[in-house]
Amino acid sequence: MIGVDVDENKVEMVNQRKSPIFEPGLQDLLAKVVRDGSLRCVTQTEKAVIGSDITFVSVGTPSLRSGGTDLRFVRAAAKDIGRALREKSGYHLVVITSTVTPGTTESIVQPIVEEHSGKRLCEHLGFCMNPEFLREGTAVHDVFHPHLVVIGECDRRSGDQLERFYQAFFDKKIPLMRVNPKTAELIKYANNAFLATKISFVNTIANICERIPDADVISVAKAIGIDPRIGPHFMNAGAGFGGSCLPKDLRALAAFAKRIGYRETLLKAVSEVNENQCRRVYELARRNLRTLKDKRIALLGLAFKPGTDETRDAPSIKLIRWFKNAGSKIRVYDPAAMKNVMRIYPEISYAASATKCLDGVDCAILLTEWEEFRKIKPEEFLSRMRTHVLIDARRIYDSVQYSKNMHFVAIGLGRTKTRDKSRECSRRKITTRVK
Ligand code: UGA
Repeated sequence: MIGVDVDENKVEMVNQRKSPIFEPGLQDLLAKVVRDGSLRCVTQTEKAVIGSDITFVSVGTPSLRSGGTDLRFVRAAAKDIGRALREKSGYHLVVITSTVTPGTTESIVQPIVEEHSGKRLCEHLGFCMNPEFLREGTAVHDVFHPHLVVIGECDRRSGDQLERFYQAFFDKKIPLMRVNPKTAELIKYANNAFLATKISFVNTIANICERIPDADVISVAKAIGIDPRIGPHFMNAGAGFGGSCLPKDLRALAAFAKRIGYRETLLKAVSEVNENQCRRVYELARRNLRTLKDKRIALLGLAFKPGTDETRDAPSIKLIRWFKNAGSKIRVYDPAAMKNVMRIYPEISYAASATKCLDGVDCAILLTEWEEFRKIKPEEFLSRMRTHVLIDARRIYDSVQYSKNMHFVAIGLGRTKTRDKSRECSRRKITTRVK
């Protein structure tokens, strides 16, 4: 296997058996395959294409200002592959795994490769679109245990070739679906858009729960998730979804629908709910502290989810900006993602540990459900914080337990602000006596 990247540093790191990204299990796997010679990396596409039978294109497809998909890197890769293929004899299969809008493989990639290689589909060339469904944080596991392999084939021979590759790669039978390239391209967007819709749905239910005394989104989500037509996954309410995929792909699908003349409303609503969800966390802090000016705020968790250092489109990035603008003093902690946030906000304070992050703050907001945050005891919050407002945006703490202390306001998203019943009784007694 030959890896190609235009970034010399990344190529150098991989060849030296160092993972250029934080991803659980990747470092060990990379070290193994580079050591045993199954993987080496180069910066020239030509070398890789000539020395192989199949080229997988997995370049980035970032958002354009319009929300649409920027295909610049896909076009550049297609051109490089085409040029390299001019020098190669025999059949070669080009597989697009990047997330691209329907029509890209057949209408953009194929013509570019054909033009620059001087070869045609069928004779010497094959094309497939093969979306991947890897999740950051569990990507290594997902590679070896796919729930589905989708092959979008430009012709039968291309599909057969890719299916044979996967049969050899996995030593067990895996679920596989062969479709045309446009359908495969849409499957990827539809998959991510549906996941995003589920999250915005459960966040909407969470917001409704907060207005119904004693209702709790966790039980609602658990109950409806048992219905096999709904399913239990992606039902956790929180500060909203982030990362490099769900928000971008949702925008891209909405922009694509508009471009082809369909005025959709659902995807826009899903994005809007997500934006508002993050804002709600900020508003909760503002309401409970009365003013945010000069208040000390601790953010526990910066990564968009545990197991990754990814902070693109993460709720933490927006919250830091809003709190900064409101004149708050911000201290943050994350076991993996601090260096990524430092590049954007070098001026805020970075704590050495989760508990140190709490020292002297007025409000702590839990944004990412890292395991180590679950171990922080109520006493730790109590002894370290100046004012005790805890906003648990991931519901990892028992807010009833935490609110037992008169001075602790613990707010779990998706339930009414916790009131300890025994405290309510004693308050009522006091009121009666005063009367
Ligand atoms: C997502 C998809 O899950 C993958 O299948 C897909 O391959 C990938 O995008 C991609 O397109 O490359 P990923 O971005 O790694 O994977 O993260 P998810 O696990 O989907 O989580 C996304 C966000 O949703 C996170 O911020 C997470 O905290 C949030 N989330 C997830 C919730 O708020 N509630 C949930 O119940 C689940």
